[in-house]
Amino acid sequence: MRVPFLDLKLQYQSIRPEIDAAIRTVLESTSFVLGKTVSEFERAFAQAHEVKHSIGLSSGTDGNHLSLHLLGVGRGDEVILPVNTFIATAWGATLCGATPAFIDCDPDSYNLGPSKVEKAITPQTKAIVAVHLYGQPADLDPLAEIAASHNSYLVEDAAQAHLAEYKGRKVGGIGIAAAFSFYPGKNLGAYGEAGALTTNDDSIAENARMFRDQGQSRKYYHDSYGHNYRMEAIQGAVLSVKLKYLPQWTERRRAVAAKYRDMLQDVDQIVLPKEMPYAKHVYHLFVIRAQQRDDLRVFLEQKEVDTGLHYPIPLHLQKAFQHLGYKRGDFPVAEKLADDILSLPIYPELTTQQIEYVCDSIREFYHR
Ligand SMILES: Cc1ncc(COP(=O)(O)O)c(C=O)c1O
Repeated sequence: MRVPFLDLKLQYQSIRPEIDAAIRTVLESTSFVLGKTVSEFERAFAQAHEVKHSIGLSSGTDGNHLSLHLLGVGRGDEVILPVNTFIATAWGATLCGATPAFIDCDPDSYNLGPSKVEKAITPQTKAIVAVHLYGQPADLDPLAEIAASHNSYLVEDAAQAHLAEYKGRKVGGIGIAAAFSFYPGKNLGAYGEAGALTTNDDSIAENARMFRDQGQSRKYYHDSYGHNYRMEAIQGAVLSVKLKYLPQWTERRRAVAAKYRDMLQDVDQIVLPKEMPYAKHVYHLFVIRAQQRDDLRVFLEQKEVDTGLHYPIPLHLQKAFQHLGYKRGDFPVAEKLADDILSLPIYPELTTQQIEYVCDSIREFYHR
């Protein structure tokens, strides 16, 4: 049985008439950038995340950059962030001219742990970026307290965590600003590149709207430095259609995760992801830790089960950050994780038979 890592065609087929109509409306309007479809989506997305403002951007990376830039992060500043994340989290700091200050992750949640953050604070620390890795919110309350007591800011990288909850509150409005990605494979994926910044702060929102549009307050009046970070109208239209389905898709992801848990709980050679008591996990990824990970991966490939590695190289060991002077051994939890982790297929359309086949194949590997 073939089990793709992701199958976006199935999702498209399930909502095709609505998507096609939404795209056609944009084509007929010939208004291709920002405009009505984007502002409608922004309102709906903000409401879904219980946050005052949502600003549509051209990617999540833009959001990582903007959230820090608009807080005044710049040259000479340090930004604390985990090493086990997608590299765009760190580009946010780099694009501001600041230095990413890497730290190890918590061994249970795989997210930032407050005690390690506290130790990494220096007088140069301007911000802490809490990544909600794989769709599970980081422990935000203690992180916000640390940030506040050291005159710095807590921002969220919610690229993988649409509709995730921390102590019953949606992510995206807990830190001072948050970045979301709508890359096609995300829980809420565009049909191309797109992202958003969310915030409850009126002045950050206003400045984000200016920055994304070349720093203009009105056409050809440029009040500040800016960039072209605008969301395309087609993406706003597609995302509005898909946002309506996101709650049910999220519950389906959680059901897939529960089935994996149920079927794999007694396999001694693997460690299942922990759902923290403060978190509602939205399972962008279902990441296990597996003994003989590389051999298991090859075995599953032979069984036509696709898997992923998120992420194989922690940021401090990436060539792009060599100049920062970190070395192997600096962050042992994340380094060990990188060697053990394996992402199993997870998406709303995955069938029970496919999940059972994946689990049976894993069992077969260890019982050969
Ligand atoms: C944790 C994290 N941060 C940032 C990003 C960047 O988002 P984008 O690809 O939309 O620029 C991604 C997505 O790829 C991500 O997973």
